[in-house]
Parts: sequence; structure tokens; C-alpha cells
Amino acid sequence: VDEIRSDLTEVLITEDEIHAKLAELARRVETDYAGNPPLLVGVLKGAVMVMADFARELKMHVEMDWMAVSSYGASTESSGVVRILKDLDTEIAGRDVLIVEDIIDSGLTLTWLRANLESRGAASVKILALLRKPEAAKVEVDVEYVGFEIPPAFVVGYGLDYAEKYRNLRAIGVLAPHVYQ
Ligand code: PRP
Ligand code: MN
Ligand code: MG
Repeated sequence: VDEIRSDLTEVLITEDEIHAKLAELARRVETDYAGNPPLLVGVLKGAVMVMADFARELKMHVEMDWMAVSSYGASTESSGVVRILKDLDTEIAGRDVLIVEDIIDSGLTLTWLRANLESRGAASVKILALLRKPEAAKVEVDVEYVGFEIPPAFVVGYGLDYAEKYRNLRAIGVLAPHVYQ
């Protein structure tokens, strides 16, 4: 048993399933943005793996930029507070922006982020999220591209962390309670 996987109760989504899903989403994005490639905005740090794999899956020229926002700290509960830790380098007025996220949990981060990017005069702001939890249904956040609807478990891997660990796991798994209790 490897050192990281022994902290999981189960693997929820395998590496192959992630890549198949990203390919599927890439085909939709290529069609929807045909002739008009979007600016991909990745949300650090969780979206790093999704961005890297999704962008390479796309058969079109895209630019990539990054924001870092904070809502969680090291706990498993969402605080509802969003702060910009690193802003975009790109002027987005008139641009079609596609936000790339790993997960929508409470939906607070993306609700805030979409409004923030729209207020800068982006021509359009859409969202791609690999995972969505049921809690997100409570807030009105339209997500155009969702990979997987998942149960309300504490998931880690493929960019998703617990206290900054497990991001480098290739699959997505459920964190064993003994790790955080
Ligand atoms: C996590 C995750 C999303 C956000 C989702 O990021 O990567 O960005 O929380 O939560 P919400 O829908 O309840 O707002 P986190 O703040 O843990 O930062 P990280 O990406 O650096 O891990
Ligand atoms: Mn994040
Ligand atoms: Mg986190």
C-alpha cells in the first residue's frame, strides 16, 4: 500500500476516468468556443492539475492565467470569506473567460469569482469544474461544464488538498476519518 493511498477509504474517481471526462469536456468547449478561444483562468492551487490536463486536451489556442483566492484555510469547513491572494496578470475587458476549478463545494468561491470577473467587463464568464458537491445546489451558481457530481464526502487528490497534502495523488479519493479526527 502506498504512503498516500493508505490515508483513503476509497478511490472515487480513477486517473483514467478523470482523463476521459476532461476529453469529453474539451470537445464541448471546442465546439462552444469555435473560432473564439477563451482565456482560461485557473484558481490556485486546487485547479492546477485540471488546468494542466484540460488545456493540453484542447485542440485550440488558449491563453492561461491564474488567480489565487482563499476561502478555507486548513480546516474542512468553508468560511464564506473570499480574499484575492494573487490577481490576474491579464486585462479581461472584452474577453471570453472560462474559469477552471477543481471543485464546487458550497459554491461561495465561484459565485464571488464570477461576479468579480464580470465586473471587470469580461465579454462572457463561464465555469468548468471537475467536481460538484450537492451543497452547491443551495447557491445559484450556473456551471456550464461539470465533470462529476460527487457525494458530500471529504475528497482529496488531483489538486484537492487536506491541509495542503494529497494534491499530488493521481486519482480522487475519500479521505479516511482517522486523518482529520
Ligand atoms: C477549494 C477548492 C475550491 C473551493 C471550493 O479551494 O479548490 O477552490 O475550495 O469551495 P467552495 O465552493 O465552498 O467555495 P481552497 O480554498 O481549499 O484553496 P486551494 O485550491 O488552494 O486548496
Ligand atoms: Mn481551490
Ligand atoms: Mg484547499
